[in-house]
Amino acid sequence: MANQDPVRITVLISGNGTNLQALIDAREDTLKNCSIVRVISNRRIAHGLVRAKDASIPTHYLNLLPYKAKFSENARTEYDKDLAALVLADKPDLVVCAGFMNILNDTFLDPLADAHVPIINLHPALPGQFNGAKAIERAQKAWLEGKVEKTGIMIHHVISEVDMGEPILVEEIPFIKGVDEDIKELEQRIHEKEHKLIVSGTRMVAEEIQKRNINGVS
Ligand code: GAR
Repeated sequence: MANQDPVRITVLISGNGTNLQALIDAREDTLKNCSIVRVISNRRIAHGLVRAKDASIPTHYLNLLPYKAKFSENARTEYDKDLAALVLADKPDLVVCAGFMNILNDTFLDPLADAHVPIINLHPALPGQFNGAKAIERAQKAWLEGKVEKTGIMIHHVISEVDMGEPILVEEIPFIKGVDEDIKELEQRIHEKEHKLIVSGTRMVAEEIQKRNINGVS
């Protein structure tokens, strides 16, 4: 991944932004030929916005609530339209959802697909398990109830069904028999692995984009 135009990445976040930080740091090595062109958060207090500003990356805050007040039942549609326009204005090659806790509907996905901009997401569960919020907590509960032996993390393509798109990279994370791991410890164990997986998944897709650009295939 060298000597070509950088792959332009928009990162969507909602919270602490430790995975965003992993992407920011990886620009030094694994993601050398990637440029994070903007970080967008749907939460004003997301610490990830501070991380982005510290790295001199442009940021934007766009929250659904004003849309609910203005458009009531069409709020999500209008929000997604504006989010798509905001993202596309930067002409990104790739959108990475790194803890973006907002459902993305077709009014966001379609304009991105039309512009040939793939969207990938990090989710802390194995494909088909524990879709949606609080996945780590729900997986641990299932382990304690004897229903699962392992959980995992994945990078997957984004479709309108939450956390359901085609997996790109999957890593299994076993629960440890005989170890009384509390939720904080499990979260930490999972986050450490996430920080590597999000970089590897982003690199894989960025490389595909570069090949596509070289071959002129859209
Ligand atoms: C991560 O654990 C990520 O897998 C999860 O949000 C966290 C964000 O942490 N995403 C989802 O649950 C998506 N459904 P971070 O803000 O520290 O990167």
